[in-house]
Amino acid sequence: MLTQSIIIAVVVVVVVVVYDLTQRKHAILRNFPIIGHFRYIFEAVGPELRQYIVTSNTEERPFSREQRTWIYASSKKENNYFGFGTDNDLELSPNYLIIKQSAFPLISQHPGQPGYDPKHRLPSAKILGGYRGRRKAFRPDSSVNISGMSYGSLSGNAVEALNRGAKLANCLQSTGEGGISLYHKSGGDLVWQIGTGYFGCRDTLGNFSMDRFLESVALARVKAIEIKLSQGAKPGLGGVLPAAKVTREISAIRGVPVGKDCISPSRHTAFGDVDSMLDFVEKLADATGLPVGIKSAVGDQRFWQTLTHQMATTGRGVDFITIDGGEGGTGAGPLVFTDHVALPFKQAIARVYREFALAGLKDKVVFVGSGKLGFPETALFAFALGCDMVNVGREALMAIGCIQAQRCHTGHCPSGVATQNKWLMHGLDPTLKSARLANYVVTLRKELLQLSRACGVCHPALVDGDHLEVLDGQFGAKTVRSLFHYEAEWALPSPEDTREIQRIMQMGCADAVTNT
Ligand SMILES: Cc1cc2nc3c(=O)[nH]c(=O)nc-3n(C[C@H](O)[C@H](O)[C@H](O)COP(=O)(O)O)c2cc1C
Ligand code: SF4
Repeated sequence: MLTQSIIIAVVVVVVVVVYDLTQRKHAILRNFPIIGHFRYIFEAVGPELRQYIVTSNTEERPFSREQRTWIYASSKKENNYFGFGTDNDLELSPNYLIIKQSAFPLISQHPGQPGYDPKHRLPSAKILGGYRGRRKAFRPDSSVNISGMSYGSLSGNAVEALNRGAKLANCLQSTGEGGISLYHKSGGDLVWQIGTGYFGCRDTLGNFSMDRFLESVALARVKAIEIKLSQGAKPGLGGVLPAAKVTREISAIRGVPVGKDCISPSRHTAFGDVDSMLDFVEKLADATGLPVGIKSAVGDQRFWQTLTHQMATTGRGVDFITIDGGEGGTGAGPLVFTDHVALPFKQAIARVYREFALAGLKDKVVFVGSGKLGFPETALFAFALGCDMVNVGREALMAIGCIQAQRCHTGHCPSGVATQNKWLMHGLDPTLKSARLANYVVTLRKELLQLSRACGVCHPALVDGDHLEVLDGQFGAKTVRSLFHYEAEWALPSPEDTREIQRIMQMGCADAVTNT
């Protein structure tokens, strides 16, 4: 009898192991047969368990359980609604965001109705490179795009899933500073990020090489160039990809020797101040015709004052600015930098945007935000502070399987996302995960559109700081416009851009023009 039970148990285990290893839906099960099931069991019974044990739905960091559940459900096209009402204490929570709906919201089309758009198109309200007349200026199809995360930091399968997902969702993928890999060439459009290591465009001494730069641009679907000055999680600091991770493939892509630490210095060598940076921007734009922008965290304000002054007086300029909040993510960074260096996103964008508004330049630059903006309400807040687009980093990783294990810096990412370990990355199926990435991006666009329509406008760029209020936890409230000291209409696009985006959205938003 005992022997029979043991045989049955062994057969069951073998069947489960075979199933786990051959299925492609769950990377965790492919990488960790049998024990991986506990993760799904705990996820399923988590809400009940937490009533008796510790954390609430909103406690975990950097992303709460509620936020992760919303991303996982959206990426799988499952029901992403929550039942029974809010968990939050609206009256007693400080800095609590309230979006003020219009008494006459715009009507949203439902599946099957004329004009319903399953992709929930959300083009940018501004043309990238339009103001400076770049030869390859364009209007991005999606106001939600994928933030820079390098191949090297991420696995090849993860980069491929993001790139194919970007194609499915008609959005852009920033390459991150590690250069353009084979995995970035899976059909999706790219913003090529150039960091201080000039990976993919460097000479043998590590300096910028225009010839190599042009070669790389010609070989990939590069739509814009992003010069990385800094990243919110570790500004003012270079990066190191340890020797062990510098494989033959990564060495070829980055143009660095195999098996030696790959260093990104803390500052650029191609320019040393705002003046020479603007010369560099114009040089890249002239050589390629592409829009050229910068990505930066916000620290010393004098940089932005000098930049606006020089843009207003010298006829040179950046086409876009990506502002990354101090709460942003990284593959690996020192705790003190992730915790204490650079302003958090909302204060950061407001300080920079005000400089541009005061200098009369805000309509001439596309503003992109990043730093936990991959949710409808945080993204809408960014639009109300003047952003034209948002980039999503870790939220995109969760859509392709990241479980917030926070082991990205160890190389042992259990979901195969942030690792070069062949066994771990084999669990991540790029075909399935690309569809999940696209579902997530489309859902975020859909809910952003729903929020905008609830506010009575057809596009989030037309939502400004008067549409949002922040409660102080003591029965007081201020509009976002007054809190951040914006003048009326600062956060809105120019009248011409407003008319044009209304015209574009009219196709899916029939009553837009009369209501905005
Ligand atoms: C694994 C990982 C790798 C990253 N690599 C880069 C990079 O190469 N270049 C860069 O500018 N930012 C990098 N970032 C930062 C993200 O692009 C983004 O700015 C930041 O995480 C904030 O967005 P999020 O809150 O949506 O993640 C990385 C972030 C993560 C999590
Ligand atoms: S699962 Fe963990 S280690 Fe992997 S990317 Fe996500 S947070 Fe990083």
